[in-house]
Amino acid sequence: LKAPGAVFFIFGATGDLARRKLFPAIFSLYREGKLAEDFAVVGVARRPRTNEEFRDDVFRSIQEFGRYKSSDQEKWNKFAEHFEYKSLDINNVAGFQELKEQTEAIEQKFSIPGNRLFYLALAPELFGSVSLNLREGGMLDNEGWHRLVIEKPFGYDLKSAEKLNEELGHVFKEDEIYRIDHYLGKEMVQNIETIRFSNLFFESLWNNKYIANVQITLGETVGVEERGGYYDHAGALRDMGQNHILQLLTMIAMEPPSRPLAEDLRDEKVKVLRSLHHFADAAEVKANVVRGQYTAGQSKGKDLPGYREEDKVDPDSNTETFFAARVSVDNFRWAGVPFYIRTGKRLPVKTTEVVIEFKKMPGNIYLGQKHDLQPNLLVIRVNPMEGIYFKINAKKPGSESEIAQVAMEFCQSCLVGINSPEAYERLIHDAAKGDSTYFTRWDEVASAWAFVDKIDAAWKENPSDVSSYPAGSWGPKEADELLARDGFHWWPVN
Ligand code: BG6
Repeated sequence: LKAPGAVFFIFGATGDLARRKLFPAIFSLYREGKLAEDFAVVGVARRPRTNEEFRDDVFRSIQEFGRYKSSDQEKWNKFAEHFEYKSLDINNVAGFQELKEQTEAIEQKFSIPGNRLFYLALAPELFGSVSLNLREGGMLDNEGWHRLVIEKPFGYDLKSAEKLNEELGHVFKEDEIYRIDHYLGKEMVQNIETIRFSNLFFESLWNNKYIANVQITLGETVGVEERGGYYDHAGALRDMGQNHILQLLTMIAMEPPSRPLAEDLRDEKVKVLRSLHHFADAAEVKANVVRGQYTAGQSKGKDLPGYREEDKVDPDSNTETFFAARVSVDNFRWAGVPFYIRTGKRLPVKTTEVVIEFKKMPGNIYLGQKHDLQPNLLVIRVNPMEGIYFKINAKKPGSESEIAQVAMEFCQSCLVGINSPEAYERLIHDAAKGDSTYFTRWDEVASAWAFVDKIDAAWKENPSDVSSYPAGSWGPKEADELLARDGFHWWPVN
């Protein structure tokens, strides 16, 4: 489905996100015929740039990061002429008035019907002033739709998120605000819903009668790279927990939506977030949440520095680069089923995986042996491998009664010709079509913060109570103990 004609404003057009993700995504949409011919992109940032220089930046970004590259000069020129640049100071309304004139000229040139999508790839502190100046500068006065797409983090805690939401609310209505959580744009995250609700096989077992526990792992091999300044202030719980992990958890735990509409799906997700058991005090947090920070270590024979030695990180920092938690969803379906979640920088593998561990069979009598049967596992592989596999018990081939775990696998990323669209492609396309299904609604964000704030408050009581783990390992041993206490262990991830 083609998105209707619109102008896309990329605020932060000289930044990393625009270069790595947004320009390549727009090019992919164009190449796949998902963008209307009547589209334009205006890059907005403080730095001066001519349109030509900007188009060169876009070209380089696509050649370096795109799923599609450009190899035909004539076709490239045709695409690139839809790109213009505007240098402005976002605190100064005069620049926005100039932007308005430039926009009207572009809309006329490409016969664009006045639809405007504002993508803020900026620090969240700036969201409020940009929104106000968009209005003050007259950018919202025309006919056509206006949509605001914003990147995380949406606030630092519930209070600051409420303030931010209020600021945006002065200018945009909730249904005009598209809050990005790029995990929701991932192929396999969206597939969780399909797998669950279109297979009797899974859905009939998807509850506390058959599931022993759920394990969600978001592992990263990278450290904080050049983002030390941001990360040291945020930490793993805010950077990955409040958003990506809780969103994945909602997709696993939610009830089937009553209709295939954005609001129905988001209603179900918010119900899960509201059912999360909030930790009452520091003792409960200590018993159920582990935080860790990497120290110097090794991976694949390479020496890696400790977190406190990283650029722009406080040498005495207590910021967590890892956390693991045992979380409960207090509702009818999930009562008694622990959800174990974990994420960290400098872990041994880059992976996003969900493991559903089913309850054990009562015993293995008919083969006349005392096998300790392994539980069935359903593994959903989100990234970088995409697919699902199921671990079941079967007779070991050739043996009389030995039992072995075998895998039934659907490996999507192994299929020839499948090159899944990047999360940002889907999300930009969805926002341009007005489909907010895979964007987070305000009440989801607020519920997620309410849960996370409890953990953060407890951590603040004992700021230095952070375990360490060598870079290149699976985090502090306490993360294993969380499961061992319940008689479980983390299943190895691939
Ligand atoms: C971002 C975090 O939201 O997600 C980063 O800020 C993290 O710290 C990234 O590296 C991981 O995303 P992905 O898609 O590579 O798993």
